[in-house]
Amino acid sequence: MKVPDIKVTPPGPKAREIVERDRTYLATTTKSAPIVIRRASGSVVEDVDGNLLIDFSSGISVLNVGHAHPKVVEAISKQAADFTHFAGTDFYYDIQARLAERLGKMTPGKHRKKVFFGNSGTEANEAAIKVAKSHKKRHMFLAFLGAFHGRTQGALALTASKAKQRAGFFPTMPGAVHIPYAYCYRCPYKLEYPSCDLYCANIIEDAYLTTVAPPEDVAGIFVEPVQGEGGYIVPPPGWMDRIAKIAKDHDFLLIDDEVQSGLGRTGKMWGIEHSKAVPDILTTAKSIASGLPMGAAVYRADLDYPESGKHSNTFGGNPVACAASLATLDVMEQDDLVARSAKTGDYMAKRLDEMKERYEFIGDRRGLGMMQATEFVVSRQSKKADPKIRDAIEEDAYKHGLILLPCGESSLRYIPALNIPKDVLDAGLEVLEGCFKRAATS
Ligand SMILES: Cc1ncc(COP(=O)(O)O)c(C=O)c1O
Repeated sequence: MKVPDIKVTPPGPKAREIVERDRTYLATTTKSAPIVIRRASGSVVEDVDGNLLIDFSSGISVLNVGHAHPKVVEAISKQAADFTHFAGTDFYYDIQARLAERLGKMTPGKHRKKVFFGNSGTEANEAAIKVAKSHKKRHMFLAFLGAFHGRTQGALALTASKAKQRAGFFPTMPGAVHIPYAYCYRCPYKLEYPSCDLYCANIIEDAYLTTVAPPEDVAGIFVEPVQGEGGYIVPPPGWMDRIAKIAKDHDFLLIDDEVQSGLGRTGKMWGIEHSKAVPDILTTAKSIASGLPMGAAVYRADLDYPESGKHSNTFGGNPVACAASLATLDVMEQDDLVARSAKTGDYMAKRLDEMKERYEFIGDRRGLGMMQATEFVVSRQSKKADPKIRDAIEEDAYKHGLILLPCGESSLRYIPALNIPKDVLDAGLEVLEGCFKRAATS
């Protein structure tokens, strides 16, 4: 099979018709490209006009084991034939308990854990907010500028990725205080690592906790190990450990949002494992069930509610999603996909660094494992963000058979399935370089 294979430049006639119907009947959300899928397998998407495109987006870091993995499909079909729903918060079934046990064991820390299942990342973070408030009996949270934790009113209060995500929705949950993230390429304090001595972490203790966020009122700090929607920003070594120490010293909870960085994406099972920090609460969603709706908050067992009825939902821990999740974890383990992500990620970083050398408009290349990105700038001296060239490259890419997603103000992310075959990865990188070449000469 030749990939990519473009028979009619996307969007073709069938795609245009569906896009039109979608625009008429669906609520306005965040659509980024007129790519209309017919079916997909592994890392290749067939669109409704018969084009074959290489997927470097994985459904926003969801399809870590690829589209329609046979073992995941089989587990879903089998479970769907047995039962599709039994209100897992009111009654019992084994597959949910088995998944919770497995998640408890595979997340950082040897302590006993409890799991709350929801259907999305935002719900996982809402669950974290509620259990943290309930346990600590405090109501403030620290989070970071550039963070994305979801769009429901509680999680939205912690999200600080783009002003338009918040505009018009005030008041959200009160008590969220944001701190600049460890964005070394654009250090908010104009310092350099390591001589900065992690000023961007120390300032929490030195300024925030002594002024706007009294520690006795802070329930927890939400942190992404790699800031995702904010631009795939990788904090410097030692930063996460410093954050964890500050949380411990001031007795508030470390809440690790692994919704995008989890499940091997960064070359470790969890992004936080690039440090020694152990979170009190870890939230996961996206790739955890290969596209079936699932989110989970995995927390220290002693944080759990003292009585029933404090938090619940109808669909959380849905048996079909649990089956998809267990099968996904089996595939990850059997195919050693975490190690593969680290190795393939190094290769991707090398190839992207070579491209950075060749194209002046790439200001930065960054990432961990297969969570890679390039940031586009008007000039390397000014570092002025160039979203226009980023958007043009994204469009040119799908027209030539490569599916990409933007992030941050002017970055593109490269997040193929962790098991993408080498020849398909190379073909995708070639399309990408072709787009860079055209952008450089246009
Ligand atoms: C780090 C992080 N947390 C939370 C969310 C929200 O997840 P969902 O869109 O499933 O609500 C996202 C989504 O992109 C995310 O990247």
